Amino acid sequence: MKTIIEPFRIKSVEPIKMTSRAQREQYLKDAHYNLFSLPSDDVLIDLLTDSGTSSMSAAQWAGMMIGDESYAGSPSYGRFEEAVKNLMPFKHVMPTHQGRAAERILFSVVTKAGDFIPSNTHFDTTRANIEAGKAVAVDLVIEEGKDPASEHPFKGNMDTDKLTAFIAEKGAENIPICMMTITNNSGGGQPVSMANLRAVSDICKGHGIPFFIDACRFAENAWFIKMREDGYADASIPDIVREIFSLADGATMSAKKDALVNMGGWLALNDDTWEEQCRNVLILTEGFPTYGGLSGRDLEAIAIGLEEVVDEDYLKYRMASTAYVGDRLIEAGVPIMRPVGGHAIYIDARAFLPHIPPLEYPGQSLACELYLRGGIRGCEIGTVMFGQQPDGSEAPAAMDLVRLAIPRRVYTESHMLYVLEVILETWENRDSLRGMKIDWQPQALRHFTSKFSYTDTKSKKEAA
Ligand code: F0G
Repeated sequence: MKTIIEPFRIKSVEPIKMTSRAQREQYLKDAHYNLFSLPSDDVLIDLLTDSGTSSMSAAQWAGMMIGDESYAGSPSYGRFEEAVKNLMPFKHVMPTHQGRAAERILFSVVTKAGDFIPSNTHFDTTRANIEAGKAVAVDLVIEEGKDPASEHPFKGNMDTDKLTAFIAEKGAENIPICMMTITNNSGGGQPVSMANLRAVSDICKGHGIPFFIDACRFAENAWFIKMREDGYADASIPDIVREIFSLADGATMSAKKDALVNMGGWLALNDDTWEEQCRNVLILTEGFPTYGGLSGRDLEAIAIGLEEVVDEDYLKYRMASTAYVGDRLIEAGVPIMRPVGGHAIYIDARAFLPHIPPLEYPGQSLACELYLRGGIRGCEIGTVMFGQQPDGSEAPAAMDLVRLAIPRRVYTESHMLYVLEVILETWENRDSLRGMKIDWQPQALRHFTSKFSYTDTKSKKEAA
């Protein structure tokens, strides 16, 4: 059969409020053209993030009822620990309330001011937690990873020559750990190959540098290894996952992604000294080690989610729904990051709207248009997000993208068809889009709260 169906049926539904274009124009105006300011029930298809937005299964909801809420020694922790160690065989596992809490604990223990932490590409919370300790976060992704049009199968790979040169230049003693983000979210959700993970792990071992993985989308990365890397076609997903983590000394995880839950995370590592120090911070800021920042029921849901996320029928459906939209956009000539990544489609807004200069925020204009036209909420990842300089000035970001992140097990094929239709219609009418300006912005992290309006510059269509 050619059609890949959702490998589940739906027992509980959440209604979507239908809205008209006129209503959406008013809602967006009220939100000052900032999609973060929209009430989510005014959104038809919410692709703002794939984080914490998964549907849980009937088994996970049932598991929540047997969650044991004891302060210490909860059997739910035992089930959580076993499920994590089954896939990520590290010696110690500490639950945290989400991924960034695991990052904060790790970096507060392992780094000191002036240290360097290389990665393929650090996610922004990871970078911020490193920089909070006055250490330096460095991105060493391969050149192909920065080219939206490159078809390299593992664009999340780290450039191992750059890593070797970097260690030689800075000195291994100034690099407390090396990281790798799988899949590479900030680089378009692109995967990392097993060969690259092994090469980086070997380089780190050679210099005595512990190697950590930001594991958020580990199952999707394992699926790409199975599909694209020689020698893995017949390997099971759990075996590929275990092989990935056997190369590392530790991992940070946001369970809001590939553990199929709405909240949670963990820090896993082998080193006993670091474990003791991290555990002390955990107790201070998250909670006792057998619950961390979570309830017993959350730990149960994670344990079950970890079994479900490595199911091949699930991964096949998940990747098919992303590819379904992405491949058709490519066929229609719409500029997107290629090849299509795991959790999201990234539209290249600068190429989509060449008549809008980066400082008039083509990504913001496109994201607003997708909402006005179809009630779809995506996220600008470009000059609005990264253009604000510490001295108050402004510079174009490296790229102007709009991310459409797909929540897990939430939307069906017809939802995806609708998303595709809205993007294609916007593409047909791209000349009518106008640039935007910021009327008010905060001192930092401006994408969350800035107020926008359209510029007076005529659209390409109006000018013609
Ligand atoms: N690492 C990566 C690669 C992430 O994508 C995220 C979150 C985190 C760490 C932090 O995890 O949110 O549980 O604290 N990414 C979300 C996103 C927010 O929309 O991509 P968290």
